[in-house]
Amino acid sequence: MPTQTLSDASSSRSGAPSPASSHQHAPRWHPGSWSERSAGQQPEWPDADALAASLAELRRRPPLVFAGEARRLTELLGHVCAGKAFVLQAGDCAESFELSTADQIRDRLKVILQMAVVMQYSAGLPIVKVGRIAGQFAKPRSSATETRDGQTLPVFRGHIVNDIAFEPEARMPDPGRLLQAYNTSAATLNLLRAFTRGGYADLRQVHDWNQEFVASSPAGRRYEMLANGIDAALRFMNACGLDTDDSAMRQVELYTSHEALLLGYEEALTRTDSITGDWYDCSAHMLWVGERTRELDGAHVEFLRGVHNPIGAKLGPTVTPDEALALCEALNPNRIPGRLTLISRVGAGNVVESFEPILTAVTDAGHPVVWQCDPMHGNTYSTEDGVKTRHFDAILAEIRQYFAAHAAAGTWPGGIHLEITGDAVTECVGGGDELAQHQLGDRYETMCDPRLNGRQSLDLAFLASDLLASAGNGAS
Ligand code: PEP
Ligand code: CO
Repeated sequence: MPTQTLSDASSSRSGAPSPASSHQHAPRWHPGSWSERSAGQQPEWPDADALAASLAELRRRPPLVFAGEARRLTELLGHVCAGKAFVLQAGDCAESFELSTADQIRDRLKVILQMAVVMQYSAGLPIVKVGRIAGQFAKPRSSATETRDGQTLPVFRGHIVNDIAFEPEARMPDPGRLLQAYNTSAATLNLLRAFTRGGYADLRQVHDWNQEFVASSPAGRRYEMLANGIDAALRFMNACGLDTDDSAMRQVELYTSHEALLLGYEEALTRTDSITGDWYDCSAHMLWVGERTRELDGAHVEFLRGVHNPIGAKLGPTVTPDEALALCEALNPNRIPGRLTLISRVGAGNVVESFEPILTAVTDAGHPVVWQCDPMHGNTYSTEDGVKTRHFDAILAEIRQYFAAHAAAGTWPGGIHLEITGDAVTECVGGGDELAQHQLGDRYETMCDPRLNGRQSLDLAFLASDLLASAGNGAS
């Protein structure tokens, strides 16, 4: 992670909104202006006083990330916009308080580093690394309640709200969890900062990122060969007298992101930057608005339009080109490259019909967006036994169609957005191991959507880097 001084973000919430943050014709923005709009997907907190106390406490806590870091990510995403880099955004669908242990965090980092180095080496392009990590605790749901055997309880909305156990007490939204989410994010970030700066992410450790479960697969063996190639390249550079002890070799920049869903939490962590006077949501470097909450006049878009972090918007198969353009105008009126990432998640088979018209409209309007493909959320289905899964082939197919759409339009495919884990879980079918449907029960551990396991993630990294290498050649 980048080095930053504390002076980059003050903990003050006071100060006038900066004019640059507001849409020219839109009403004045302030961190709480979202509450004048309708906000979907917010829990029904049973105790208003307890909620207010948690939010007040959060406002007193230090920022989790600094404004300067968020600005640096915007700059890097600006390089993606210009076709000079590619972004890998990946991690859990829903992080868990219990699984935020040191080993778990290290293993989640490992798989991201491993995938990124595969893509960077194969395609010869810088890979901007953004984790769905250190704050991805809130989930949008299709229904507010869940009924089992005649009993109806509030739905599980992520660990920042309630617990997954189907029991009345566990499912009751608990504002104390907002502080637990903050604390878990802080502890996770602390370890990530140590790992990414303290030698663990050193390119000379590239073999160590290959975890046992992954290493024994064909993709794991291919990775070993690639890692040997990196060793050889480093030896060659040393022999030439080049310094391979440089921080560029020893450290990586890993940025954090999550869906900005619980607006009270996000508002409480929104601070003015003491250098620029601009507002930043200091809960993560990048925030995105989900497919279920991206209405133009809704509270989530209102909140995100005023913070200066790089932001994303998920676009499902029903979004029209006009809606996509309106989102670009609302979220990036000053057309800053790297500010806005449009994340299409239309599903394999819908790319030509749903995504291509958007790609054309936004490109023709001259909006500088980072394009990103989320091949996960449009390809989810349930087995006859009601197990939510995704097929590796559909995931790959959507990525292929997405690259093809960009090749035809002459635009840069930007990045991919994935739900992954380094663990040997059995949540998605297919991949190099051809994980079968009947194996889904073996290790199905996700609290929300099915993730690619470590082997499937590495398989996908190799396949995506082949596509990326050809896209890079086409662009040059
Ligand atoms: C997610 O990213 O986990 C998610 C809920 O995505 P979407 O908003 O695209 O459905
Ligand atoms: Co998900």
